[in-house]
Amino acid sequence: MKFFLDTANIDQIKEAHDLGILDGVTTNPTLMAREGITGEGNIKKHYAEIATIVDGDVSAEVISTDFKSMVREGEILADIAENIVVKIPMIKDGVKAMSYFSNKGIRTNCTLVFSAGQAILAAKAGAAYVSPFVGRLDDITFDGMELVEQITDIYGIQGFATEVLVASVRSALHIVKAAELGADVVTCPLSAILSLLNHPLTDIGLKKFLEDYHKSQGK
Ligand code: G3P
Repeated sequence: MKFFLDTANIDQIKEAHDLGILDGVTTNPTLMAREGITGEGNIKKHYAEIATIVDGDVSAEVISTDFKSMVREGEILADIAENIVVKIPMIKDGVKAMSYFSNKGIRTNCTLVFSAGQAILAAKAGAAYVSPFVGRLDDITFDGMELVEQITDIYGIQGFATEVLVASVRSALHIVKAAELGADVVTCPLSAILSLLNHPLTDIGLKKFLEDYHKSQGK
């Protein structure tokens, strides 16, 4: 399972990259706004910087909601770097745009997916990735991981090539569950990845090892 960072924050992307566990990045308009990135030129520059740090795919989201504008915007984004994947919302014009890009060899990430039906449409449209939002489903008391299970089952049965990218990940448990279900990718904040590190027995064990070492050295 690949680890993508769900952020537009350069420091966090560098930190995850330095850990050697970063396979890609996803962004969205909210995350770009959080970094204070405004204006087409700055947005393009920011994506270019991220795409240079990261070896793997970087999802850049379109703002438009009609087919023609999505195509125009997506082509500009795809031109920034080879590893840019155009992120497109699951709406009717979005399906048309994903089919268009797929025929042109431009990879897409279908975002805002909340049902198995939407995931089937994304795969039919040739999306490279489908992004079910698990945290936001949990927020409305629907188990987001049930949707991931349904999608991985359907894609397996149907032989769809679209990769399941679990998004809106909020915790270590989401990451572990996604791995159990055979998801291809999780995208999450750095804090969720770092929380995988935590176990009190590791801390207790390390303290004891170091104490014993120092004792044996007469310190
Ligand atoms: O990038 C889309 C998704 O991961 C957003 O997550 O936490 O805003 O629901 P969240």
